[in-house]
This record gives sequence, C-alpha cells and structure tokens, in this order.
Amino acid sequence: MQMIEPRAMGTPLQRIDGAAKIMGTAPYAFEHRLERPTYLHPVQSTIARGRILKIDTRAAESLEGVIAVITHETAARLASDENKELWVLQSAKVHFRGQFIAAVIAQTPESARAGADRIAVEYEAARHDVSFSGGRKDLYAPKTVNAGYPTDTNQGDAETAFERAEVKVDSTYTTPMEHNSPMEPHTTIAIWESPKLTLYDSTQSVHSVRTTVAKSLGLKVDQVRVVSPYVGGGFGSKGEPHAHNILAALAALRVPGRPVKFALTRQQMFCLAGYRTPTIQRFRLGATRDGRLTSIIHDVVELTSRFKEFAEQTAVPTRLMYASPNRRTRHRLAALDLPKPSWMRAPGETPGMFAGEVAMDELAVACGLDPVELRVRNEPERNPESDNPWGNRHLLECLREGARRFAWSERDPRPRQRSDRGWLIGSGVASSTYPRYVLLGSRATIRCGERGQYTVRIGAADLGTGTWTTLTQIAADALQCPVEAVHLEIGDTEQPNATVAGGSSGISSWGWAIVAAAQELRRLHGARPAAGAEASAQTPKGADDETFAQHSFGAQFAEVRVNTLTGEVRLSRMLGVFSAGRIINPRLARSQLIGGMTMGLSMALHEESVVDERFGHVINHDFAGYHIAANADVTDMDAVWLDEVDDRSTPMGSRGIGEIGIVGAAAAIANAVYHATGTRIRNLPITPDKLVT
Ligand code: MOS
Repeated sequence: MQMIEPRAMGTPLQRIDGAAKIMGTAPYAFEHRLERPTYLHPVQSTIARGRILKIDTRAAESLEGVIAVITHETAARLASDENKELWVLQSAKVHFRGQFIAAVIAQTPESARAGADRIAVEYEAARHDVSFSGGRKDLYAPKTVNAGYPTDTNQGDAETAFERAEVKVDSTYTTPMEHNSPMEPHTTIAIWESPKLTLYDSTQSVHSVRTTVAKSLGLKVDQVRVVSPYVGGGFGSKGEPHAHNILAALAALRVPGRPVKFALTRQQMFCLAGYRTPTIQRFRLGATRDGRLTSIIHDVVELTSRFKEFAEQTAVPTRLMYASPNRRTRHRLAALDLPKPSWMRAPGETPGMFAGEVAMDELAVACGLDPVELRVRNEPERNPESDNPWGNRHLLECLREGARRFAWSERDPRPRQRSDRGWLIGSGVASSTYPRYVLLGSRATIRCGERGQYTVRIGAADLGTGTWTTLTQIAADALQCPVEAVHLEIGDTEQPNATVAGGSSGISSWGWAIVAAAQELRRLHGARPAAGAEASAQTPKGADDETFAQHSFGAQFAEVRVNTLTGEVRLSRMLGVFSAGRIINPRLARSQLIGGMTMGLSMALHEESVVDERFGHVINHDFAGYHIAANADVTDMDAVWLDEVDDRSTPMGSRGIGEIGIVGAAAAIANAVYHATGTRIRNLPITPDKLVT
C-alpha cells in the first residue's frame, strides 16, 4: 500500500463548515428553502398488534388547510416488500404500537396535526407480546448476527473447562433498551416531479437511501436524488432509511410538484427510528488461581421485532478480547411485537463489552489481582478464533499509558476505602475494542481547476463528526496541495457512490477512494495536471484484509463519587486512551472520542427506555423521562491516543474513531461504582435505587 505523506493530516484544522453552521447557513434537511411547501403529520397505531377495520378520514379532509389524507386504502402501491419496515400504508396489519397508519398533508404543520387528530380508526386488536425475558420458551438462533458474523462459536470444551476451573465468575448482566437521540430528528422533504423524486434527507448515506427508496417505490435508481449536506447526528439511527422516508415519498406522489416536509417529533423517534435491543448476558469465566483464563462462555439473549429480524452481534467482541483455550459464544433472540431494533453506536461491542469487562473486573477481585494485570496475563498473541496475526493490537500500551496518567498505582485495590463528606470514591478500568472496517463501493472523482485548485466529489456524509474537514485534509495530502486548494463536494447522490457513515468506516473507505483517485490522476496526467484533467477511482480491497485481524483498542479509566445517603453517582474523572491508527484531525478526534465516552456515561447512569407491556410502547418517550447525559453530568473527561500509523489499514494510516469511545465506558464506570461502594451492579443503568438498600 502506498501511504500518503502527512502534511494537513494530523493538524487540528478547524471545521471548514464551522462558520456556516454558526451563521445558520448550513441547512439541515428540514431547513432547505423550497417553494410552496406542504407539511405532513402522521397518524400512528394505538394498538400493538392486529389490524385496521375502518379508517374514517372525512373530518380531516374537510378541515381548512388539509390538502390530502393517505391511508393503506388510498396510498400508492409499493413495488417491494422485501424490507417489511418499509412496507408503509400497504396493508391493514399493525405490527407495533406507533406504526404509521395514515398521513395528513396540509398547508401548515398545524393543520396537518389537527387533521391527524380528526382521523377515526377502528381496530381488531390481537393479543400482543412485548415481554422480554431470558426464560422464554420461543428463543431462537438467527442465521447470522449483524455485520454477518456467525451466531454461535465454539472452541474446545468450554463447559467442562469452566466446571473444572480453580476460580470462577458466573454472572448475568442486563442492559436496557436504549434510543438514539441525535440533536436533529429524522427528517425528509420529498418532492415528486415526474419522473423524478428528490429527497432532502437527514441520513448517514444518501446513496443507500436512494437505492432503497427507489427499490421500494419501483423507480429506477437515477429517478431518485437524495441531498443531505449537513446532518445533526445519527449514531446509526440514520444509517438506513426508515418508514418515514417512504411515508414522505408516498405523500409526495399525492401532491406532485409540491415539497412535502416531514420531521419526526422527539416522541415519534422512540418508535420509528430504531433502538438498541435490551440484552440479558450470562458470562462465565474460568481461570487458574493466578488469573489465566481457561474458559470463556458468553450467552446472549436479545430481542428482535417479529415482522423483521435484527440480531445484534453482542457476543462478537468476546471472540477476540482475551486468550483462552476454551471459549463459547451464543446469541438467542426473542421475537416481539415491537418496532425493529437497529444500530446504535457500536452495536454489539457496546452492550457486549459492558458485560465482558465487568466480568473481568469480578475475576480480578476473585483472583486478588489488579484488573490491569489480569488483562496483561490474558493478552492473546493472535486472534483467538481466526488465528490470524494482529494487524495492530496495542491494548496493553493503552492500559499502561492510561494507568500512568490516571495514577492507577496509587489505588487501594480494596473496595469502599475512600470517602469524602458523605461520598464514597472509587475507580475502575475497562478495555475497549472496535473492528477496523473498510467498506467497498465508494468512488471519488477529482477534477483540476485553474491555479492549482481541485474539485473532489464523493457522495459521503457528515453526521456532524467533521467529514467536510477530514476528507479535505486527506485530499490535500493525496494531491500534495494546501487544504485551501481543495474544493470538496459531499452529501448528494449527484456525486459518485459512497458507502454508509457507519461502522466507523466512513473516513477509511471514502478517504481511500480519494487517495486512489489522486494516484490515478497523477498516473494519467503527471505531477502537474492541467486545468480540466480528471480522474476517478474506487476504494480498493486491502492486501492484508483477509490475513490480519485488524481492530482498534482502548482503555477507559473512571473515577466516581457515590452519595451514601441518596445513591447518586457522579462521574468525577474519566480518561480514555485509544489506539486507532493515525488521527487525521486531533481537534475533531478528541470531540468524537469524548462524545463516545459521554454516551457511555449516559448508558452507565441514565439511559433506559421502559416498555409498558400493557400497551406495547415506550412510556418515557421524551427528554423529561429519558435522560441523556448533559453538560452537568460530565466533569473532568479526557481522551488521548497512542502516536501510531497503521500501514496495513489505509493509505492514510488511520482506522476510524466514531464508535470506540463508547465501548467499555459503561463497564469502567460500573467497576468504579463497585470499587467505591463494594456493591456490584450488573444491571444498567446504575440508578440511585440500585445503590440504596
Ligand atoms: Mo454506527 S451504529 O455503525 O452508524
């Protein structure tokens, strides 16, 4: 692999879209100014399972300002029901509470909402089942789990080795249902100008919205254009189109030539934008007295919607973290009458590493070993399951660097030893990991302009993470020109295909396509190409992809204070040390990593979606009932990284950083709570009631 010379890369360039954002000229989807807009308000089912017998739209239709109402009886027919989540207004069936069953299109948002309130629905309700438990008789094994991993793995005889182990941990951990809450809600403006459909959408991938929506509506791909220059966060919830995209498109077909504007309300996002499945994880660790693992068993139960399967890869990180001759991992699903779970920052790694890293802390206590030392003793020389050599495994360096900076050696290993005016103080550690993904399918084009300027085009996404800036830095280094000479164009299907901003793969995949296009430009036109010269290239397959196990690693250290009277937990200090290859932009990287750690803090202490089993919906579906960590929850938090260039991963030397910050964060905090109080909390979130007994 031909690496590019870092000049702009590694510098803390300010966001090139920063000024536009501050001045309000960087539009999110809903803010695109279009002539003669209409507004959509949906009607949602109030039963969790059954069918619609009758739907009376007359009162809505006669309301002033209402233009049209669409229901399953009147909406245009879709072409493909392959993705049942997108089979919108096509049948009388109800699969979950909150499902779209009609939509009102009106001149103003107020009349659309008033119209939606006037729609009368009669249902035939069937008994719904939203009861999640590990004791269900109907748990089943999916064919594979998310990202294509095997459902189960098995090495040696883990059960027997566990039974015979000198030291054992056998604990069950639970993580709750959680919902993504990006700042910008899921939003689409759809315009049908026959034969073209345009969507101004809030998405992590304009191109996948285009192909999916085209397929769903039976249009050719080039009949659909998707525009999404700026996005206010997604965390995975905007990684694939959801029902609202289709609903907006169906509405647009009904009012040709007029834009239909549709933004989900915060409450609607709690049933229509995916969520992280709750998990029940039994973890068994067997070890010798000196802390060498002889058996690792990880059994996961999680849920999926009955109408479409999503199986999170919760046990996958357990397959690679630590050495052990015997190991077994397993995923089982409960299919329920709920919306479809989906991606939320580091799906799999996040809940799985919570359980695994708390289990390791329990083992450290059982062996009387320092938790950092326990991890050192179980460092695998190669990937334990594939037997591939590591591309760049620096977990121990992260742990050691973190321990040094956090003054870990001064820690009294015994729990409940430190206090300060009614607060118990403790600290904990956990490992992080995330795979290095490079997705194939992205293409970049570069065109030379006058005076050494370049236009670089690729239909990539900036979720708010800084793609505009980092891709400009990469392009400048690939073209050996100043960043000012690069004119980047992203966020529109008019630009060449780009893969999703997901799996922390965006910068690696798109950046590599840009590097390949720059190399192609030089090959075709020499070192000083004239104005008008052009080249284009795709992300190539990495030479080491099959032969090396390529992952990022990290270590998280947390210090908490727990109020002895109220059980309140405050995070007083947190440090993450990460190994993620070259850091393209330290300013933006730090913000990504701290953002991930903050989301981990939020998971540890606050977030929990509560399903009311009587009705089948999330009752705390707003920011009053569902707390996400705010500024006041975060005190002294820092993220640093190893100085590293990964020449196996990408020609930039980078591996991606969007997700690793959340992985292990909740475990570090839970382990700190144990150290502070002597109470082991295995069920997230760690709310005060669990500590006051
Ligand atoms: Mo991320 S959950 O891979 O968008």
